[in-house]
Amino acid sequence: MGAIIAIVNNKGGVGKTTITTNLAHALANLQQEVLVIDADSQCNTSSFFFHGDVERVPAPNLYELLEDDAADVRDCIHAAPEYSRIAVLPTHPDLAGLEPVIIQRPDTGIRLMRDKLRDYAKTKYDFTLIDCPPNLGTFVMMAMVAADFVLVPLESGSKYSIDGIARTVGLIDDIRSEGQNKDLTLLRFLLNKARPRTIVARETHERLRERFPGRVFETVLSASTDLQQSEYLSETVIRSKPNSQLARLFRQLANEVVSLKEITTMQDAPSA
Ligand SMILES: Nc1ncnc2c1ncn2[C@@H]1O[C@H](COP(=O)(O)OP(=O)(O)OP(=O)(O)O)[C@@H](O)[C@H]1O
Ligand SMILES: [Mg+2]
Repeated sequence: MGAIIAIVNNKGGVGKTTITTNLAHALANLQQEVLVIDADSQCNTSSFFFHGDVERVPAPNLYELLEDDAADVRDCIHAAPEYSRIAVLPTHPDLAGLEPVIIQRPDTGIRLMRDKLRDYAKTKYDFTLIDCPPNLGTFVMMAMVAADFVLVPLESGSKYSIDGIARTVGLIDDIRSEGQNKDLTLLRFLLNKARPRTIVARETHERLRERFPGRVFETVLSASTDLQQSEYLSETVIRSKPNSQLARLFRQLANEVVSLKEITTMQDAPSA
């Protein structure tokens, strides 16, 4: 069975979208079948995969899936034009307007994503990555209720970044304890935008490991100007700068994620 990973941090600009797109590509290069879901009405991931142009994002998509009771998930998933083994469930800016409708159905609304796509995604794809908006609102809750794991990117060297994660961790605990998704697991924290060999980068990593032992990725993504060019081209850094340090780090991260999935799947297996 595949693993569903929600990429969550209520802080904006920490790299959720960059990590979603580049990790998806690195996993696909490891022969993994990947589904990318854009749960953010900013549509950054959606436009990234469809020629960098929000106008070219296909429909039906997540908007229709959540808005129309009769919509079928298979119709809402589209192959990424430039990337083998990556399928995308994109979204539309109007997604934000659905929030009040979903909130009116407190029990069923928050389960919509889980009910409509979890079984299909886990059967068809090795990995499903859900790019979340920078808040802990309705769509993030929906993603967490649908997911197996939460990956929390953090900006290296930012004290506020570490202080702010308490709310994200608290929400995971609430979703588990309230029974909306009792198996939801914090996969790992992932440090991003690190300035290598600086004291502050090292200290953030150490502080985080002390506070959350065994819950921090070994891979630390460095800050790199290579991303600006790749974003401009709507390409992953793995494609635009395959020999760069950041491309290598994303490949290393994908290997970590694949081995974590193997470990957790073994733990889930019923004992003989
Ligand atoms: N490792 C990095 N090195 C340099 N720049 C980076 C790195 N990671 C992300 N960025 C840049 O930081 C900005 C924010 O990144 P991104 O859009 O991925 O964050 P986000 O968490 O998805 O933001 P939002 O919360 O608005 O959805 C982008 O301009 C991106 O290019
Ligand atoms: Mg984003």
